[in-house]
Amino acid sequence: MKIGFIQTNPEFGQVEHNVSRAVDIVESTDADLIVLPELFSTGYLFPDRRILSELAESVPAGPTFRRMSDLAKSTKTIIVFGIAEKAGDKLYDSSVCVAPEGCCHIYRKLHLFAGEKSYFDPGDLPLRAYEVNDCTLGMMVCFDWIFPEVCRVLALKGAHVICHPVNLVLHYCQDVMRTRSIENQVFTITANRFGTESHSGKVLKFTGRSQITAPNGEVLAKADESGESIQIVDVDLHLAESKQVTEQNDIFADRRTRFYKDILSS
Ligand code: ACM
Repeated sequence: MKIGFIQTNPEFGQVEHNVSRAVDIVESTDADLIVLPELFSTGYLFPDRRILSELAESVPAGPTFRRMSDLAKSTKTIIVFGIAEKAGDKLYDSSVCVAPEGCCHIYRKLHLFAGEKSYFDPGDLPLRAYEVNDCTLGMMVCFDWIFPEVCRVLALKGAHVICHPVNLVLHYCQDVMRTRSIENQVFTITANRFGTESHSGKVLKFTGRSQITAPNGEVLAKADESGESIQIVDVDLHLAESKQVTEQNDIFADRRTRFYKDILSS
């Protein structure tokens, strides 16, 4: 299966421009599964909740969802993208999966990062793995990476590949995702953006270096810190079905869960 990421540099608030650029790139790419960055259509640094509310869109009724869903059908590609989602009076930092057959799966970021807490609502949907065509995929968004429970739950639910739209500003994530791959024996696709955004004297520089990792921790593809990048690799996602790391060790079967109960207390 050909899986990949697209690293872009969205212009804040320029939804039509950002989506059109992503559509052009996907149309020129031959892949089965493509992941786009977090908030790829709007940009990241919302000055306040009112402006976020103006830019957020409903899923599946909104125009960005409909364009991406049509694109999945016309290019026969499963596409995962990050979007500011409006659902009633709630605003979520969501990841959406669309596929040629017209499915729509939504994940809403559980762990909000820094200033996001002042304008987004925290996600309210369970972590799930979705069977889409030949692969079972899980979704998480950006800062969820620092909570190992998220990848673990997705892998326990059967995800072969963790699709991870991000807008990273810290430098640790890409290294950590190699570990997430090894400890869960899954593939990961971290689709980051590059460039900077600023507002009221606050400047954010996004770290690029989008990447794909394999269950053995190998980095199969990596983008530069800056610049648009489209990288596709051909992998056997079924390699993620075995959790056997030695003849005697299946890392899921070997878990001693009764000793881990503390991680579930607040
Ligand atoms: C982040 O969660 N966008 C850093």
